[in-house]
Amino acid sequence: MTVVGGAFPLSLILFAAIILHHHTAALPLSVNSRWIIDDQNGGERVKLSCINWVSHLESAVVEGLSKQPVDVISKKILAMGFNCVRLTYPLFLFTNDSLASTTVRKSLTKLGLPASVAGVQVNNPSIVDLSLINAFVKVVSNLNKNNIMIILDNHISKPGWCCNDNDGNGFFGDLYFDPEVWVKGIKRVATIFKGYTNVVGMSLRNELRGYRQNIETWYSYMQKGAEGVHSANPNVLVILSGLSYDQDLSFLRDQHVTLSFTKKLVFEVHWYGFSDGDDWITGNANQVCGRITDKMTNQAGFLLDQGYPLFVSEWGVDQTGTNENDNRYLNCFLGWVAEHDLDWALWTLVGSYYLREGVVGMEELYGVLDSNWYEPRNLSFLKKISPIQSSFQAPDGLLGAEQHKIIFHPSTGLCIQIHSMKLAPCSNAQAWEYTLQNMLIVKGTNYCLQANGVHMQVKLGTMCTNISSKWEAISSSKMHLSSKINNGIMVCLDIDYENTIVTNNCKCLNNDKLCDPASQWFKVINSTSVEVAKPLILLDSMLDSSM
Ligand SMILES: *[C@@H]1O[C@H](CO)[C@@H](O)[C@H](O)[C@H]1NC(C)=O
Ligand SMILES: *[C@@H]1O[C@H](CO)[C@@H](O)[C@H](O)[C@H]1NC(C)=O
Ligand SMILES: *[C@@H]1O[C@H](CO)[C@@H](O)[C@H](O)[C@H]1NC(C)=O
Ligand SMILES: *[C@@H]1O[C@H](CO)[C@@H](O)[C@H](O)[C@H]1NC(C)=O
Repeated sequence: MTVVGGAFPLSLILFAAIILHHHTAALPLSVNSRWIIDDQNGGERVKLSCINWVSHLESAVVEGLSKQPVDVISKKILAMGFNCVRLTYPLFLFTNDSLASTTVRKSLTKLGLPASVAGVQVNNPSIVDLSLINAFVKVVSNLNKNNIMIILDNHISKPGWCCNDNDGNGFFGDLYFDPEVWVKGIKRVATIFKGYTNVVGMSLRNELRGYRQNIETWYSYMQKGAEGVHSANPNVLVILSGLSYDQDLSFLRDQHVTLSFTKKLVFEVHWYGFSDGDDWITGNANQVCGRITDKMTNQAGFLLDQGYPLFVSEWGVDQTGTNENDNRYLNCFLGWVAEHDLDWALWTLVGSYYLREGVVGMEELYGVLDSNWYEPRNLSFLKKISPIQSSFQAPDGLLGAEQHKIIFHPSTGLCIQIHSMKLAPCSNAQAWEYTLQNMLIVKGTNYCLQANGVHMQVKLGTMCTNISSKWEAISSSKMHLSSKINNGIMVCLDIDYENTIVTNNCKCLNNDKLCDPASQWFKVINSTSVEVAKPLILLDSMLDSSM
């Protein structure tokens, strides 16, 4: 049970073999402008590809321990391509000794969960009679042993499902949110986990919100909390959440956070499909994607330009694929995250909870594991997000890396591959140049991408000034790449049923709410991690017949 092979059925092992290419970071981490880097390796980029693991509900027991041994769960996390866990906790676990010293068995029993007790007894016999605080430490210690990075997230004060405006946990001064207790508690967490090298960051407080929220108090206590954590453990990244359920950091445009230390400050933001209600299905997908990415840029994305890392510490979808609002959001979201090569944490690892909102054993459709924490809930979802688990870019200048472009197709999670002119895994993508004249040139060659007709496969040609070789990002989403064919008809890059790259009439550019443009959504993104295709062996069939 300690080998990766034991963690999953064969199908996923084969998949994991392809994606397990993260190299080990030399910890601790630090910050170089908008990038998170490892200090020791001469400042190499470390991309956080995290999964949220929940431990803040009523029982205050890390979820899933009744279903699988902790070491098996850790190895599943690695096998699914994540390099990091955002582990949530309730503040009172570290400030209320009577809660902290309750055993796992007692806590679950008190909630009327005998099946969970029996499950922990079988799967994690060494944990069932530990105190809640020691059980939490045991999980961190196992993640540490498996070389998984850990971000400790203070999710709430009083154990329970989060969040609403009136739950008493929303903002400094609320019923369960005494700022002094909070500072003391997070300092204690920083101190306890100081010896665990893989604890790389601390999210100081999740989703600030409610009628008390205000900017002055935010600065005053977030700065105090950050100083407290840093003084207790100067190694960890200090991660600050915005207001309004961590969707709004816009106030930072006018006033910077003032701290006595540097190179450790990171901001976090949350973005779900339901963050904007059902806008994704009640509007035109291009217009909604354009409007909401603009909003995200104004409320959080601008921090990248100011030279701060932005950690998208919660996002996710219903993985059954039946929630159309989530499906449309996901394609737009993946384009944005890939374009900016952001650090992130997916919601969630959890396949089912011991008890959530009064429901025993509630299944989590946003969870990557099934309800038994045994197999991935949806392998095609994991494949689709796998390109963003790797870095597209190294920090400018640090590696002297050359900038290229790759052409990413969010709805499949694949990239355009030159040799076949089909979609293929982004790890096999080649470098393009996107010129000021809107030509897409195969880097290192004279060949450019050329539209060839409606429903026809695109070609590589050398007549790069031809109108058929100009590709403009159009529609509100800017995710359609459009060109013109000889008689001036506008076409858009698309894929056919075999993932061959073709051009078709542009679809659902605006107004139409029913149609889904996703097959025509592409992003030309910066990448330093692909190879320039040299020498390029072009297949005859790919070339324009006029050559
Ligand atoms: C501390 O935890 C115990 C056990 O869960 C609980 O009964 C008590 O109300 C808590 N005290 C405070 C001050 O939150
Ligand atoms: C996985 O997700 C895809 C795409 O959304 C969906 O079509 C499929 O039915 C899902 N599979 C399962 C097992 O939920
Ligand atoms: C991509 O790289 C170009 C050239 O270095 C830069 O100007 C641009 O801002 C980058 N785009 C993003 C989204 O980082
Ligand atoms: C541009 O390319 C198309 C398709 O390859 C070709 O049919 C057309 O004649 C070219 N137009 C010009 C002005 O060269």
